Amino acid sequence: MNDIKKFIVMGDPIQHSLSPRIHSLFARQFDLDLEYTKLLTTKQDLVNHLNKFKLSGGTGINLTSPLKEEAIKYVDHLSPRAKYAKSINTIYIRDNKLFGDNTDGIGFIRSLKNIIALKDKNLLILGAGGALKGIFLHIIQEQVARIHVANRTVAKASFFAKQYSNITVSCYAQIPKIKFDVVINTTSILKNCFEVFELLDISADFFFDLQYSNDSAFLKWCLDRKKERYTSGLSMLIEQAAEGFYLWHGVKPKTDIVFNKLIQDENEK
Ligand code: ATR
Repeated sequence: MNDIKKFIVMGDPIQHSLSPRIHSLFARQFDLDLEYTKLLTTKQDLVNHLNKFKLSGGTGINLTSPLKEEAIKYVDHLSPRAKYAKSINTIYIRDNKLFGDNTDGIGFIRSLKNIIALKDKNLLILGAGGALKGIFLHIIQEQVARIHVANRTVAKASFFAKQYSNITVSCYAQIPKIKFDVVINTTSILKNCFEVFELLDISADFFFDLQYSNDSAFLKWCLDRKKERYTSGLSMLIEQAAEGFYLWHGVKPKTDIVFNKLIQDENEK
């Protein structure tokens, strides 16, 4: 009998996903044998692929864009943090049931740990979609001083203002001209839509991107303006995966060595 545990990441697009590489590097730390594959999955295909994977004896599923919110409909149980975020990035399968969780928020906070503490800080958040929902509760719990959320669709930013008193919202053109402590990009805007960021005039000590792709428009904006204190979402990606690995295997992998390995992979390309 083949007792190697099976895992999968689903999304659209999926080719770029680093999750199989990250989980195999985690597994090596514990001499674990596992199979982790990726599968191109649209919202329409999701329910079929979830069922197929469950029936095949799979243990865990990661979900990426655009499936995180859609998946809420198909799981049997939802963790409190996934319920709050209204999105799922990690599913574990036990007794034939799907348990949905969201490790993005904890991953985000852990990725900031050695860089900056958010307590009492004045934050500017760009974007107000699902990615922000995944981390918003965790940001509030850090006891930040104030938050300004800027988004193309201001009504979506207002949703967050209802949940926290020290929060203001606007479109990108009306971001207050003050110095922020931290700017967090939660948009999915890529270089080919760069006009959105082109006119941004923001001053801050620290710039954090939820995207880890070289195609991030925010990365381009930071590079063009020589913002030195920029951090990509690579560390958050690894930290959210580490929390998922803990849910699935009950052990906590070391993340720093995986970060260095992925940077090495990138440099060797
Ligand atoms: P979703 O909201 O579908 O879960 P997301 O990646 O979490 O996806 O969020 C997308 C974010 O990027 C949103 O803030 C979105 O702005 P709107 O809420 O106005 O749609 C922003 N975004 C994506 N493409 C954009 C574009 N071309 N111009 C401006 N904002 C864009």
